[in-house]
Amino acid sequence: MVENQMGVTALVTAFSRAYHSITDEPKIFDDFLAIQLFNKMEEDFFRKSIGSLYSFCNPEPAAPELDTDSALAWVMQNLNGSITLCRSRFSEERLLDSIQQGIGQYVILGAGMDTFAFRRPDWAASLQIFELDHPVTQAMKRQRIEAAGWKIPEELHFVPIDFSNQDISTVLLQSGFDPHQPAFISWLGVTFYLTREVVLSTLCSLAATIPAGSQVVFDYLNNEAFTPDKMDQRLQSMQSIVQQAGEPMKTGFDPRQLEMELAQADFQVKENLAPDDLELRYFQQRNDNYHAFPHIHLMLAEKK
Ligand SMILES: C[S@@+](CC[C@H](N)C(=O)[O-])C[C@H]1O[C@@H](n2cnc3c(N)ncnc32)[C@H](O)[C@@H]1O
Repeated sequence: MVENQMGVTALVTAFSRAYHSITDEPKIFDDFLAIQLFNKMEEDFFRKSIGSLYSFCNPEPAAPELDTDSALAWVMQNLNGSITLCRSRFSEERLLDSIQQGIGQYVILGAGMDTFAFRRPDWAASLQIFELDHPVTQAMKRQRIEAAGWKIPEELHFVPIDFSNQDISTVLLQSGFDPHQPAFISWLGVTFYLTREVVLSTLCSLAATIPAGSQVVFDYLNNEAFTPDKMDQRLQSMQSIVQQAGEPMKTGFDPRQLEMELAQADFQVKENLAPDDLELRYFQQRNDNYHAFPHIHLMLAEKK
């Protein structure tokens, strides 16, 4: 991540959740607080700049011209929203299962502008929540929380980390995380931006820190996302966009191979969902164009 570009992807995914909450029905995931993290000027800026990606993704002269609102809706439904909404929905559904089984710790890796601790005080009350993120993104989030006038709950702990050069186990243990209590861990929208070695060593280090019964959810790109003649056109556009934003996508996995690697790290795979599975689960019977995003898979694994 280029530091002075300040976690742009975290802002864009938060804006996409805010847009969906305000604009669309039925909701895939209702992040009704996300909009409060943006001031009016930023909201206008993101509407325009995200909407302008329509022309970037549809450069051919025959592409219909769209007004600003329709262009923004196109980008949300075809790119941004489809990526972020179902992973957040899946993760918080599994988190609720874990809370009902008595889990008391929630670790949000690469938390970005995640609003869970403020949006779900009913669930948060029974948890210690650890938000781990790059220090630049985290500082930016804290400023936005202050500007929004939100009170930081006692159970929320901000923990800065750079996954590329810090060991997650050491950082977690220094943050007050209890390695004897099962935890639920989410890692959404992050593995794409790390090297394969960093993703696997982070999972191994996590496995060595969390007790049996803890669960981890993360999304990942498949290998075809990096194979020119197999990659979907929208993913190709997305890769160019995030590359220009200073956060290039770096890593994809073979889904079966990843299951073996998780087994070696002492995780048991509970669910390994491909885009077709996600389409069936979250995008059926909609009247708009939100669909599971090509190449993005969701993994739920439990520490043995
Ligand atoms: C696309 S955002 C996703 C944020 C949030 N999880 C979501 O779903 O909206 C990527 C996140 O990964 C974090 N990130 C990227 N590289 C990182 C690194 N090397 N160390 C720590 N965090 C990193 C960014 O700070 C950012 O919060």
